[in-house]
Amino acid sequence: MSNKVSIVGAGNVGSIVAYSLAMQGLAHEIVLVDRDTDRAKGKALDMSHAASAVRSHSIVRAAESYEDVKDSKVVVITAGFPRKPGMTREDLLLKNAEIMRDVVNQVKEVAPDSVLVIVSNPLDAMTYTALKVSGFPRERVIGMAGILDSARMAYFIYEKLGYGAGQIRASVIGGHGDFMVPLPRYSTVAGVPLSDLLSQKEIDEVVERTRHAGAEIVSYLKTGSAYFAPGKSTAIMVEAILKDSKQIFPCAVLLKGEYEVDNVVNGVPVMLGRNGAEKVIEVTLDPCEKEQFRRSTAAVKQMIDILEKDFFKG
Ligand code: NAI
Ligand code: 2OP
Repeated sequence: MSNKVSIVGAGNVGSIVAYSLAMQGLAHEIVLVDRDTDRAKGKALDMSHAASAVRSHSIVRAAESYEDVKDSKVVVITAGFPRKPGMTREDLLLKNAEIMRDVVNQVKEVAPDSVLVIVSNPLDAMTYTALKVSGFPRERVIGMAGILDSARMAYFIYEKLGYGAGQIRASVIGGHGDFMVPLPRYSTVAGVPLSDLLSQKEIDEVVERTRHAGAEIVSYLKTGSAYFAPGKSTAIMVEAILKDSKQIFPCAVLLKGEYEVDNVVNGVPVMLGRNGAEKVIEVTLDPCEKEQFRRSTAAVKQMIDILEKDFFKG
């Protein structure tokens, strides 16, 4: 069984994904693809040395062409532009959709049975694009955001409490953006409900900070966005797929009637295994959470409508 992983986009996030996998020895072969081949070559060599230092059997190499992606079990796609000054969200959406189409068209030829893990932003719309361009079943096109957003929320809960690090389980569903849906009701510290530990005001502050955590990091980094937690969160998904772990993680998938949503990608808990998102889990939501999820779905749908009008038909 193939344990080969390819990563398209050897920038900040792609590098952390590859490095995490290599350090854990999770894939026998990790291929870095980038339009800047020298960047991929330099990073691959450096990571292979690191793997050698920790006596990991993983080999990291740079692709000369998409032929090198052949037979990958998982293909992670992080290729894309960040939003630049003067660029609208819509401009970014259409620009990155072009990159996604170009990448996925090439990947599907050489790795038609792979599971695609999408990272490029805007995440939910890019997952939809990859799904449509690939023609793969929805199980095999999965977006990464929920693990990251939940990890951020867990950390902010820790900051409020000052204890419990490593014991906090936070839950965030919905789209990766301002309309994400943090679920304090389903968040615990060593099994203790959040509402027994924090006031409503403190919980509201955690929720707000989680929603804007990506922007908070950009405000410090100035020239780029977060990559350690995004990279690690992606590697967690790849690990669950390669190991066929059947563990549940929040991921972006195409909903087909679940959560009363049809044909829109959104973040929900799914069971990950060798075949990708093998099961969509439906969490019971109260009326307020349902309304937040509806708003989040509407925001993603708006982007999908633009893609359908100006990209797929244009
Ligand atoms: P980066 O700029 O460091 O890396 C992007 C890489 O993609 C570059 O090395 C670039 O050369 C490459 N690239 C661009 N077009 C390509 C093409 N057609 N073929 C092959 N390679 C190509 O950016 P970073 O920080 O790694 O972020 C990557 C993407 O992930 C961005 O869209 C970012 O917004 C998104 N992101 C998503 C997160 C999520 O939670 N889903 C979290 C963090 C970042
Ligand atoms: C983040 O949340 C930019 O989506 C990226 O950090």
